Amino acid sequence: MKNEIVAIDGPAGSGKSSVARAVAERLGWAFLDTGAMYRALTSEALFRGIAIDDQDAIGELARSVELVTSPLVRVNGRDVEEEIRSEPINIAVSVVAANPQVREAMVERQREMARQQPKGTVVEGRDIATVVFPNATLKVYLTATLAERSRRRGEEGVESVVRRDEADSTREASPLRQADGAVVLDTTSRTIDEVVGEIIRCLKNNTSN
Ligand code: CDP
Repeated sequence: MKNEIVAIDGPAGSGKSSVARAVAERLGWAFLDTGAMYRALTSEALFRGIAIDDQDAIGELARSVELVTSPLVRVNGRDVEEEIRSEPINIAVSVVAANPQVREAMVERQREMARQQPKGTVVEGRDIATVVFPNATLKVYLTATLAERSRRRGEEGVESVVRRDEADSTREASPLRQADGAVVLDTTSRTIDEVVGEIIRCLKNNTSN
């Protein structure tokens, strides 16, 4: 049976996690927050005192670490659910995520996780529709104004959001960009429910063609 995938990409604070989680619930599918994987890996690197720019050491960690994102985010059995949203991780994660060895290891894990789902998976991140699942059933790109995205990010602050977006979209390995054929949705003045409804409508239209 074909593995159904809804792939959702977009910059920080565009609403990916809330929307993706709700779409998965409506469909009865699994939900995969790939940002949590990059954040958890970063947390483990800091925990072990590995320099985040040591590409080989971080690459090796990415291949060997035990990572779980549901129901709680755990790395090598350690609960990092809260820590991964902290400022040190916000700062270091874009460097870790730009490492090609890390991306290769994470993409492989993400495809494997989706393969194991009996129905389908809603996956969100930066490179999901472009690199991880280019043949997804539906591709979505979420956006919102910078003011709204920073408001949603609260404590992180506008400077950090701008810095992370800049790093994520200008890096060489799998930069954030709209995939060909992606439905673009601006979430600035829409509720989560409205965006979820729109995605479900697009999915129904797509699969009935
Ligand atoms: O929630 P927010 O959009 O702020 O961030 P996130 O989805 O938790 O992702 C955190 C960081 O992980 C991003 O800033 C990217 O550097 C990286 N990331 C990535 O490179 N590729 C993905 N598929 C997901 C996240």
